[in-house]
Amino acid sequence: MVDDVSSQLDFLERPTQYITKQEDSVKVARTIRKLVEFERHDLINGRSKSGFDMVVCRNILIYINDEHKTPIFETIRDSLVDGGYMVIGKSETIPIGMRTEFDSVNAGDKTYQYPGDAES
Ligand SMILES: C[S@@+](CC[C@H](N)C(=O)[O-])C[C@H]1O[C@@H](n2cnc3c(N)ncnc32)[C@H](O)[C@@H]1O
Repeated sequence: MVDDVSSQLDFLERPTQYITKQEDSVKVARTIRKLVEFERHDLINGRSKSGFDMVVCRNILIYINDEHKTPIFETIRDSLVDGGYMVIGKSETIPIGMRTEFDSVNAGDKTYQYPGDAES
């Protein structure tokens, strides 16, 4: 069973081109599914990716020891393009030492922007 996400899609002109509601689930359109790749990646020890416009990292940090949180945020920062966005879970926080790396875009939704090297 999924929550009703309709209100979160209000800003879209025609949400049904992206998802369709089923009885107790939501189906993502094939055109969107084709754009998605799944890959195993260790955020603590793995090498950073590159060129990401957005990283959504929710409900991971709450399970991670404090000493490993900074490497995770370094991985995310280094994976983002300048101006790229990061979203973390509602109850999650950026470690103090990494807070200057990200600008808050929407505190309620825990959305941040990586301004890029030039501005840091
Ligand atoms: C509670 S689940 C959250 C999954 C998803 N983000 C969500 O909100 O539904 C925590 C996830 O953290 C992943 N995880 C734990 N340590 C990790 C690491 N070092 N690198 C990448 N993922 C990790 C686990 O594999 C698990 O899928």
